Amino acid sequence: MKDFLASLGQNVAILGTQWGDEGKGKLVDALSSHFDIVCRSAGGANAGHTIVVNGDKFIFHLLPSAMLHPNTIGVIGNGTVVEIAELAKEIKLLEDKGLEISSRVKLSLRAHIILNYHKEIDAALEERKGSKKVGTTQRGIGPAYTDKFARIGIRCEDLLDLDLLKEKLEFNCAFHGKNFDLNLDPTKELEELMSYREMIKPLLTDTRKFLNDSILDGKKVLFEGAQGQQLDIDHGTYPFVTSSSICLGGVCTGLGVSPKSISDVIGITKAYTTRVGSGPFPSEITDEIGQYIQKKGVEFGATTGRPRRCGWFDAVVVRNAVETNGINTINLTKLDVLSGLKELKIAQRYFLDDTELFTVPTTRKANEKLRIEYETFPGWEEDLSGISEFSKLPQNAQNYVLAIEKFIGAKVGAIGVGPDRGDLIFKK
Ligand code: GDP
Ligand code: IMO
Ligand code: MG
Repeated sequence: MKDFLASLGQNVAILGTQWGDEGKGKLVDALSSHFDIVCRSAGGANAGHTIVVNGDKFIFHLLPSAMLHPNTIGVIGNGTVVEIAELAKEIKLLEDKGLEISSRVKLSLRAHIILNYHKEIDAALEERKGSKKVGTTQRGIGPAYTDKFARIGIRCEDLLDLDLLKEKLEFNCAFHGKNFDLNLDPTKELEELMSYREMIKPLLTDTRKFLNDSILDGKKVLFEGAQGQQLDIDHGTYPFVTSSSICLGGVCTGLGVSPKSISDVIGITKAYTTRVGSGPFPSEITDEIGQYIQKKGVEFGATTGRPRRCGWFDAVVVRNAVETNGINTINLTKLDVLSGLKELKIAQRYFLDDTELFTVPTTRKANEKLRIEYETFPGWEEDLSGISEFSKLPQNAQNYVLAIEKFIGAKVGAIGVGPDRGDLIFKK
């Protein structure tokens, strides 16, 4: 860990490189005691980041996954969409365990609020799409970002101007109610917000100014990504994506920090591939091997409990994230899950007819015709739990990791061999 930390600059971003659930929360927690501030810049409670400490499990949805460390400040930036009731619940859950949380959370005045009507619209849109549904988390994420870009969103700062808040709620309930044929009640929305208002008010901060001043002051900042590159609104498998910028650019706009203040970017990459929800998944395994990985890796959503689809490691997908985000180090997670498989495959290249593709195609036609070039590797039987040095891994596991490094064009600096905070191998 010491060498790994020493290789990093003042401020570090941690980003998902696949379809989310790569294990971002675990590394954020593992590194957080060495940082002063940990921030979320995009997404909302669609995220579910799991941390396991001595067998105790914590799932973070809106709070940065750093709050178990008593001195860390958590920032929820302007680029996020915040379900106020969920945030209050998350804070209370940790405070009931004796942790001081409220005084360490800074919520951007400009973060958008997710209302109940956003969740209703999310469900209504999915229902109308039928078999073409995205398979969203139904947390209202897409509709909240839609309002933001249509410039009718309600922001946290509106909690400080009740007349304006009331006006906006009335307009939005009438507008969306008519468009989606829903019976929306602005008074109920207002009452719910009012019940959390006094609790939320002290958290409201000009987080852009706070962060830039802190960085100038030499404070160390960790930027915690949510979701993963293939769920990015621009670079993912559109329309089967979330509605925010997952990539490094989203960190800058979602917090108001300069790209120049982000020193290093760590990619979080599962040793295989998973995705929840619908959409293309070129290296998906649909036979019993997929089920074996799903069961052994406990691949069920941390937010919705849905089973995650499983597939082989896809180097095209991860290379995409490495290139887009300037990732210099990878934390390869869940290598332990692959023990017991006779052989492992890595998707190396994609072809459409005779043309090589460097991005997951998004049209149905292209996906049907996609040809994937795989390379096969011998597996290993040994249980990896408890191993703390790269050289102690079975030779075939070492070879698999080295092949991944070669295929993705980034070094693997850390390897996960179990869910617990300490189940990490740092590799030189
Ligand atoms: P996140 O959304 O990227 O933070 O990831 P999730 O928490 O949704 O999903 C990752 C799951 O894998 C969680 O249940 C973690 O506890 C677990 N996990 C993380 N790293 C490892 C690892 O190296 N090995 C094993 N077996 N489990 C891991
Ligand atoms: P973390 O941060 C995995 C997926 C949903 C769906 C699509 C759109 O835990 O990695 P949304 O509710 O955002 O409109 O859903 O995106 N999705 C995630 N999948 N991990 C996540 O977050 C996700 N957040 C959204 O399953 O396919
Ligand atoms: Mg998750």
